[in-house]
Amino acid sequence: MSNIESVLTEKRVFPPDPAFVAKARFNADQLGALRAEAAQDPAAFWTELARKELGWQTPFTVGLDETDAPNYRWFSDGKLNVSANCIDRHLGERGDQVAIRFEGEKGDVRLLTYKELHAEVCKLANALTALGVTKGDRVVIYLPHSAEAVIAMQACARIGAIHSVVFGGFSAAALRDRIEDTGARLLITADGGHRGGNIVELKKAADEALASGCKTIEKSIVLQRTGHDIAMQAGRDLWWHDVVADQPPHSDPVWVEAEHPLFLLYTSGSTGKPKGIQHSSGGYLLGAMMTARWVFDLQAGDVFWCTADVGWITGHSYVTYGPLANGSTILIYEGAPTVPDAGRFWKICQDHGVTIFYTAPTAIRALMKAGDEWPAQYDLSKLRLLGSVGEPINPEAWMWYHRTIGGEKLPIVDTWWQTETGAIMMSPVPGATPTKPGSCTQPLPGILADVVDEAGNPVTGTEAGGYLVITHPWPSMLRSIWGDNERYIKTYWGQFNNKYYVAGDSTHRDADGYYWIMGRVDDVLNVSGHRLGTMEVESALVSHPRVAEAAVVGRPHEVKGESVFAFVTCKGARPQGDDATALVKELRDHVAKEIGAIAKPDDIRFADNLPKTRSGKIMRRLLRAIAKGEEITQDTSTLENPGIVAQLQGREG
Ligand code: PRX
Repeated sequence: MSNIESVLTEKRVFPPDPAFVAKARFNADQLGALRAEAAQDPAAFWTELARKELGWQTPFTVGLDETDAPNYRWFSDGKLNVSANCIDRHLGERGDQVAIRFEGEKGDVRLLTYKELHAEVCKLANALTALGVTKGDRVVIYLPHSAEAVIAMQACARIGAIHSVVFGGFSAAALRDRIEDTGARLLITADGGHRGGNIVELKKAADEALASGCKTIEKSIVLQRTGHDIAMQAGRDLWWHDVVADQPPHSDPVWVEAEHPLFLLYTSGSTGKPKGIQHSSGGYLLGAMMTARWVFDLQAGDVFWCTADVGWITGHSYVTYGPLANGSTILIYEGAPTVPDAGRFWKICQDHGVTIFYTAPTAIRALMKAGDEWPAQYDLSKLRLLGSVGEPINPEAWMWYHRTIGGEKLPIVDTWWQTETGAIMMSPVPGATPTKPGSCTQPLPGILADVVDEAGNPVTGTEAGGYLVITHPWPSMLRSIWGDNERYIKTYWGQFNNKYYVAGDSTHRDADGYYWIMGRVDDVLNVSGHRLGTMEVESALVSHPRVAEAAVVGRPHEVKGESVFAFVTCKGARPQGDDATALVKELRDHVAKEIGAIAKPDDIRFADNLPKTRSGKIMRRLLRAIAKGEEITQDTSTLENPGIVAQLQGREG
């Protein structure tokens, strides 16, 4: 609530700096014209862009196909290759331009030109083909954030294999579940990665995953990154450097239908296990490419640093695909922001001449907390644009970013979008849109959004509040949930009879038509900009032999946005004293093992039972209030067990 209140009283407006506007791709008039043209006929607008901006082997004749709505298709009779669009087409004009600037946590730097990137991608693509991987096969990628992760994704795209990147922070169990859901034939992993001064034991986790299932995996390719000792299983595990050694640095791209799945990316929902969000080739690439250009104003000479790991959608769209399709130079940094100290991000900006910096509010808050003395030590004069993504940015953090990093001049693009939307949906266009701290401003050209009430009716008025919906299909939208199209339709379209795409966020729209995202309406937590289903964490807790029942809620957290707060009942007596302390630690480790460290509850509280209504529903609203330490003012008389409240508050026993 505090966030809602603070943004609703936020009245500051920052028009774009004239010096920026003078050189920007779009000024307000140009953006207005583009938006108006797109709104008239969004399908025609996107179709024209697809024709003009993408390279097609077989041009398409169908723009938007609504036959099986809400399973929309775009450009479906055309054929293209995503990797050729990201790399090959730049070889003539900017083959010697740096495509990737990589810096490892230990300070090692590697630069790859477009020509070199092309050669690396082709060699790996050839190696994959030699191992029998063909169009439509799934390949799971479990790598550190590295140039090789981009190479692996692009190599899959080059041969029409469907990649599914699993974030390196996920546990062996989470990796196994994802591999099994995709039915992947091949795994690409590494001996490890450097993070926070430690080695992330990726190969060890991969071995554990493969030992516990994953029967479809035939081979795994292992990148040598750390060089420390790991076990290689003969016949299954192959070193990356060995499989590419004799491969030629050329390979013909495999042309695929525009609707051919480019990748699956797992994300959390309010029920059940993570969903494999399925994205297309043509429509997805168009969305990633155009939004990268509009929102980040990409121009010759830019060094674009999106800090997101390739394991998340932001890393897919704004590390691997969008900027490369535009022929830009991207920066990839492997490690943690605080190694060796809290100045690392700013040192990287200085050393690599970063011009565009795109990160998450959780990182901004952490850097703000570390103190202004860190950015003050570095030359940040090359920076010309700042961005934010992943959760609502609180005005205080926005203002710090604006003042301390932006020198009160640089535009800030607060970009709202989702794994499912594939590309940025709402954001300022930096040379055109006046910004307000905490608002993602307005939908981009070709995106039609609205706010509706419980019945699905548009909400009007100067402070309209309700469900955020998208009212017209767009090219980069998800196509389905892998293996469960019914769930796709029910989750995203069912609420209002297939009329709108329902984002699952609540929002306000102010008198200027600016959107203020308020957070999720479902049981999804946003921890450090990452989505976690409460159900997922609850299932992990309940899988521990001593746990009978668990309820998980979010609690506001200064840096992470939200933290995980778990209420747990045990089999047998309620744990007390040292036993309780030991069990808390054990349960936290257990969740880390089942899902990953990001899901570890910050708080665990034991109770004899959970607060339920007489019909047996857990009263989450009450638990959220308790987690926040608020006085309980709500009516608890419908509780089956009203006496439990004091215990849940930790005031008894
Ligand atoms: O609640 C919104 C929040 O993050 C959710 C999407 O999470 P995910 O699929 O993991 O993708 C994150 C990166 C695109 C949304 O439903 N969210 C994302 N960006 C913003 C945001 N909330 C407010 N403002 C944003 N800029």
